[in-house]
Amino acid sequence: MVQKVLEVEKLKVGINDDGRKIAIVNGISFTLEKGETLGIVGESGCGKSMTSLSLMGLLPPGVEWLEGDIQTHDLHFKKFNKQDWRKVRGKRIAMIFQEPMSSLNPVYTIGKQIMEMILSHEHVSKQQARDRALEMLKLVGIPRPEQVLDEYPYQLSGGMRQRVMIAIALSCNPEILIADEPTTALDVTIQAQILELMKKLQEQLHMSIVLITHDLGVVAEMCNRVIVMYAGEIVEEAKVVDLFDETKHPYTKGLLASLPDIADEKEYLSSIPGIVPAPENMPSGCRFAPRCPNVHQRCMEAPPLFDVKGSKVKCWLYEHGDSEVVM
Ligand SMILES: Nc1ncnc2c1ncn2[C@@H]1O[C@H](COP(=O)(O)OP(=O)(O)OP(=O)(O)O)[C@@H](O)[C@H]1O
Ligand SMILES: [Mg+2]
Repeated sequence: MVQKVLEVEKLKVGINDDGRKIAIVNGISFTLEKGETLGIVGESGCGKSMTSLSLMGLLPPGVEWLEGDIQTHDLHFKKFNKQDWRKVRGKRIAMIFQEPMSSLNPVYTIGKQIMEMILSHEHVSKQQARDRALEMLKLVGIPRPEQVLDEYPYQLSGGMRQRVMIAIALSCNPEILIADEPTTALDVTIQAQILELMKKLQEQLHMSIVLITHDLGVVAEMCNRVIVMYAGEIVEEAKVVDLFDETKHPYTKGLLASLPDIADEKEYLSSIPGIVPAPENMPSGCRFAPRCPNVHQRCMEAPPLFDVKGSKVKCWLYEHGDSEVVM
């Protein structure tokens, strides 16, 4: 039986502009299962980070939770106050960010930063926290871990800093790890090593991962399921194999077509014309219609999410046949 560790229900976050609510994430729903890696992909500005920050209660100033709920086991995030978030963050759900240098505190040693996370959630002595910090550095494959405990972030390479971020994130054994573009700031070899490490740790610690990336290659390598976001909405959700073998949404097809194809001698790169619309300027029908090669009259109206043989797709092309409206 599949165990759900996270349920996002019709989540809407956005800005309140003089009483006019402008959604940045517009009513998305998805679940995360125990032990799986769920990918979230989409172009820049689609709302991937806003979604991940909602999961951590870390929305930037000015951005509000407008509607919907997020649930993990018996906890409803909608009702959370600051203190509730502090208890959950790091302990049940932890996050790693794109740029480890800006998320680590430059004036504290690596050891102190890992210990701080442990001491904020668990009743252990400083010595026990330090021992655990050392254990964590070993777990994430940091060479000379004893020395590194007393070093500062600037003394480490980018790849090592990202390992430290992972060590901090995992130090309280969270059930869910959110990784927002965890490897985009790193060069390709280091990227592969960090992804490999995440995979290994996931198996070892049985955690569930939400992996946000704009790289479909990373999705193919790492994920079980994937959500494609466009303009604050989910436009396709599928098992990774289905996403690549039976791509449905014209937007996803566009994303795949813009991947560099090594086998193709011409190295032809197509890209989707136009840009993602801004939250305050959304088209009233299908949000992708102005850029869509398959646009037709029906698209003046926003499509629902259709269930097509186990995948979900928000596109009128799937209105007929054996599809079923799910939302
Ligand atoms: N602090 C903010 N206040 C208001 N709007 C914001 C704020 N931060 C981001 N936005 C807007 O929210 C939308 C979604 O942004 P988000 O950062 O979630 O995109 P993303 O998919 O993570 O993009 P990227 O791939 O570039 O990281 C964008 O239109 C962005 O301009
Ligand atoms: Mg982002």
